[in-house]
Amino acid sequence: MYLYNDYLKAAEYISSHIGDHKPEIMVILGSGLGGVADLVEDAAVIPYGDIHGFARSTAPDHAGRLVVGRLAGRCVMVMQGRFHYYEGYEPEQVVFPINVAHVMGIKRLILTNAAGAINIGYSVGDIMLIRDHIKLCAPTPFRGENIPELGPRFFDMTYTYSPRLRETARKNASKLGIRLQEGVYFYFTGPQFETPAEIRAARLLGGDAAGMSTVYEAIAASHCGMEVLGLSLMTNMAAGVLPEKLSGSDVVETANRMKKPFSELVMACIADMGDE
Ligand code: HPA
Repeated sequence: MYLYNDYLKAAEYISSHIGDHKPEIMVILGSGLGGVADLVEDAAVIPYGDIHGFARSTAPDHAGRLVVGRLAGRCVMVMQGRFHYYEGYEPEQVVFPINVAHVMGIKRLILTNAAGAINIGYSVGDIMLIRDHIKLCAPTPFRGENIPELGPRFFDMTYTYSPRLRETARKNASKLGIRLQEGVYFYFTGPQFETPAEIRAARLLGGDAAGMSTVYEAIAASHCGMEVLGLSLMTNMAAGVLPEKLSGSDVVETANRMKKPFSELVMACIADMGDE
């Protein structure tokens, strides 16, 4: 169990290693999408290993460093690589950086991920704006004593994926000529990909994309009152949609192919997020 002091300690360490930067937006980069961090200007880079309470990134293609600087005219704190439950971390460890960002005064969060398309109307390479998520049968990061400085014991999840930021994403995708799907992210713990039967069940329940991340971070953001924008890249059709096997290398390959439009959309959303 972390104490409030652990969040303070991490926040103080980060603040004392980023010069004059005052980050206002946190961006978490998913599998194969870490390249956005290379576009940060005037960057201060802190390896996760140096920050009190931070876990280590063990997933492939997750660099494991915090990059703070300017992106699209705003001051951002970018996580180049995130923590996943399947890496052996507790959900509380997965969301530790979100709570640290809250303590630092950050009020907006962009969550990105690679996901498998459950919706048969989607294509590989499509970007899906997350409207909502489903997490069944997986633990919550907020089991145990609540820390009131972070948020209330019971909290609402109705507007977790900010309607305002979704509108910003739609507007900017259309300006950039990017086809944007909008749907429900269905969380699976991984690291195994799903079975075709699990994907059929997820589709029946209203899932449009399957993935192994994001929901814990979105829950933590709701808890501490951050606005969330969630963008999923469809790196593959989910299990059983096509008569073929899935592989982790397809995920990274599609993410690499799509990194330009994906980064453009992320940057346009950052530039146009407003100051609310
Ligand atoms: N399932 C779960 N997570 C994923 C997938 C998938 O098909 N593709 C990329 N991340």
